[in-house]
Amino acid sequence: MTIHRPRRLRASDTLRALVRETTLDAADFLYPLFVAHGGNLKRPIASMPGVFHHSVDTLVKECEAAIKDGVRGVLLFGIPDAKDAEGSEAYADDGIVQRAVRALKRELPDLLIVTDVCLCEYTDHGHCGVVHNNKVLNDPTLPLLARTAVSHAVAGADIVAPSDMMDARVGAIRQALDENGFEETAVMSYAAKYASAFYGPFRDAAGSAPAFGDRRSYQMDPANRREALREVRLDIEEGADIVMVKPALAYLDIVRDVRQITDLPVAAYNVSGEYAMVKAAAQNGWIDEKRAVLEMLTGMKRAGADIILTYHAREAARWLRGEGVAC
Ligand code: PBG
Repeated sequence: MTIHRPRRLRASDTLRALVRETTLDAADFLYPLFVAHGGNLKRPIASMPGVFHHSVDTLVKECEAAIKDGVRGVLLFGIPDAKDAEGSEAYADDGIVQRAVRALKRELPDLLIVTDVCLCEYTDHGHCGVVHNNKVLNDPTLPLLARTAVSHAVAGADIVAPSDMMDARVGAIRQALDENGFEETAVMSYAAKYASAFYGPFRDAAGSAPAFGDRRSYQMDPANRREALREVRLDIEEGADIVMVKPALAYLDIVRDVRQITDLPVAAYNVSGEYAMVKAAAQNGWIDEKRAVLEMLTGMKRAGADIILTYHAREAARWLRGEGVAC
């Protein structure tokens, strides 16, 4: 009887490399960054070691350094000076994201710029839509999101990424972009975005925790799988160019499902809480950070993600280039 010996192909580094099925590439990464008003600002975010609030000038420097590491695209989040009920800085021509995009396009023209389109960082109530009588209203939010997306495109964004989870927003944004001559600006929709505890550190960073209630009336129930496919199909019908699953780690089954129902590129968002857990364990010496990060990112890619949004982008790109470990 033949003894099957899968171990044969694991005997050496070169053999393992020869039969490796999934490889990470820094070109797959998008690096999320926070930009705030002011100058010469690089303010650490306590719950996300290694992540900062940057002003536009230090943001440009950070992006330059990221490019040197091999990162080719960024995702921008804005921290406004003032918040109001309609989140008006989200769509202001001189809003912080619009200023940052213009500066980056001028200084680093080859950098791919993705902008997060949402109101929650800009509203005084911290919700992702217009609020009336403590309810988050869907349809009145759509024109504001569309306006935000167009203002990002005017500033020079390559891709706009709506993260609000209002119904029909991808269609509204696509239509507004087209009507304003931005038919080449792509839409990466946060298509299956779950109401997750793993956004905790981000909400500290963006000061966007909801002032009342939670986001469960618009973000998805973590228990649902079929519903994610419905959300993804709707966004594709409405014109999404890339569909995202968020968070990543607890939702790799969803990443795989989405991969199977579409030919579009699929993105997975390795969110703030996932990052914070690894950093905390690493700082305590409880985990080998480099191996853990590369293993997680490889898992996302193996599940079916083409694109990975990760705060680890710079370090992971460096590890992959030089001091690469086989994980
Ligand atoms: C805005 C937005 C959030 C994240 C990305 N865009 C927060 C939220 O929905 O509460 C989370 C990113 C992260 O945790 O890294 N709606």
